[in-house]
Amino acid sequence: MKNEQYGLFKFLSQEEFAKVRKFAGQEKTPFLLINLNRIEKRYDELRENLPYAKVYYAVKANPNNEVIKALFAKGSNFDVATVYEMNQLLELGIAPERMSYGNTIKKERDIAYAYSKGIRLFATDSEDDLKKIARQASGSKVFFRLLCDSGGADWPLSRKFGAHPDVIYNLAIMAEKLGLESYGLSFHVGSQQRDVGQWDNAIAQCRYMFDSLAEKGIYLKMINIGGGLPSDYVQPTNTINEYAREITRFLKEDFGENLPEVIIEPGRSISADSGVIVSEVVMVSQKSRQNRYSWLYLDIGKFGGLIETIDECIKYPIFTESSTRPDFNSNDMREYIIAGPTCDSMDILYENKKYKLDKDIKDGDKIYILTTGAYTSSYSSIYFNGFPPLKVIIDRF
Ligand SMILES: Cc1ncc(COP(=O)(O)O)c(C=O)c1O
Repeated sequence: MKNEQYGLFKFLSQEEFAKVRKFAGQEKTPFLLINLNRIEKRYDELRENLPYAKVYYAVKANPNNEVIKALFAKGSNFDVATVYEMNQLLELGIAPERMSYGNTIKKERDIAYAYSKGIRLFATDSEDDLKKIARQASGSKVFFRLLCDSGGADWPLSRKFGAHPDVIYNLAIMAEKLGLESYGLSFHVGSQQRDVGQWDNAIAQCRYMFDSLAEKGIYLKMINIGGGLPSDYVQPTNTINEYAREITRFLKEDFGENLPEVIIEPGRSISADSGVIVSEVVMVSQKSRQNRYSWLYLDIGKFGGLIETIDECIKYPIFTESSTRPDFNSNDMREYIIAGPTCDSMDILYENKKYKLDKDIKDGDKIYILTTGAYTSSYSSIYFNGFPPLKVIIDRF
């Protein structure tokens, strides 16, 4: 059988892997290596495929200054979740006009602060939040987040954000009365969304809301189609090109050729596949003599940045050095349960999904965890069990 491990080169070119390996030979593990060239490539690809959409990069996905600067230079706008992200961007010289305050959960004093710094675009989904915006950010544009079913998403965002159309309808009317501009609608179909049909449902809901509110004299101008575009993990997805084609078709079916302003807030699809985590095997163990599976303990786990392995939602491509040997085949492999190094028993990465890796793996072997450029370094804990936060190295190759 063909070497499953050899699949590393489905994700990285020979040259890219040579660079990763070079760092692996120099740096202490674990570390995350980010390739800025890939981030820029993903941004360009998105712009080519959705030329009419204004990009607001979701800073939370990878807030590293170098990443933000590269995207800023490309012309990106930014979706910030907190005043901390906002301050970070302001310090980098990014104008407030290039930001939206996309979190629907905000303290009143943070809204006031954002307004004082020049932010004029806010997301909301509740009366409480709307009234705070009205009090502290008079005259601003607001967009209303519709609740979305995240079925089909590897990392669902359902329930916590958004509200049903009847609530949104009332909010849009109230916003105008409170001195705000009811500007548009937003939704998020769930991160790493595999079912492009989810955008169809959400866009149809937007059409319905545009029409209902127009009857009340409120003419919305914008649709924010959120994040959700995929990156390359173990299970393949359609290409960005295919997603974009379908999303464009849905928009045109509902809104015709004269589209409203369209905003997109990509996070994962921009930054995930720019990153490789280089880790090291700490220990291999067998829990009983009959056990079919060995436990493989790495020097990175849930608390070191791989929190998206909760419920095994995100399945990272994981490889060893053998991945580079074409003759390496399934006879040389066995299945492992993979866990992290901390003293917390929930620090298991994959127990249901078994990863096939070299059968003679040993302490100190390097492990390459791919597609880890999004939602990793910013999630890594500060000194839990004394482990330092995930080290990040930024380069271009
Ligand atoms: C409001 C908002 N926009 C955009 C994103 C980015 O989504 P994704 O990483 O799926 O592209 C998120 C992710 O949590 C979000 O909460």
